[in-house]
Amino acid sequence: MKSGFLALCSALMLAACAPQADSPPAESAETSLASSVVRGAYLADIGGCHDCHTPGWAPGGGAAPEALLLTGSPVGYSGGWGTSYATNLRQSVQTAASREAWIETAQSRQSLPPMPWWALHRMEQADVGALYDYIYSLGEGGGDIPAPVPPGSVPQGPFIWFEPVGPEMHPASAPLAE
Ligand code: HEC
Repeated sequence: MKSGFLALCSALMLAACAPQADSPPAESAETSLASSVVRGAYLADIGGCHDCHTPGWAPGGGAAPEALLLTGSPVGYSGGWGTSYATNLRQSVQTAASREAWIETAQSRQSLPPMPWWALHRMEQADVGALYDYIYSLGEGGGDIPAPVPPGSVPQGPFIWFEPVGPEMHPASAPLAE
């Protein structure tokens, strides 16, 4: 009984040590995509991407229904650059020519304020790829976001004034003129 057990153990150890030609690679393509998606989700979370690109993220205390994640916002940011809108990143990855093309654009384009484009330029390429994989995994979602409005033109919808102004501009500073 005992020797049978030992024989089984040594057979198992031999099997574990023997080179196996047909064994799967340490990390399959599927596993590495899955871990890239998890990393991308983490980077989007701590990198602040949802703060602007996911509607309701801040009021929700850093959470939103999956259907809304990274779908952009129709509330503009106005300043000297005109009015910009946090884009629908799900649409952005779905319509990119390729994963490489999206990474290349993300790491070279200087987007309008308040997009912190320098964060994407300084990020490791693999991390920008992980962001792509995560956003792509969310699938299509949301709709079209308004195109930027040039300086000197009035945006059609709501916007946040993103330039410093004096206290006299605050709604609570003085009773409204009769
Ligand atoms: C403070 C708000 C803000 C934050 C934070 C932010 N973005 Fe943006 N982002 C914008 C705005 C506004 C635009 C549109 C700029 C323009 O029209 O040029 C934009 C544009 C982009 C674009 C280029 C346009 C496109 O859809 O391909 C990418 C890519 C992008 N953001 C990714 C990210 C990622 C990834 C993060 C997190 C690391 C992030 N953004 C964080 C506001 C923000």
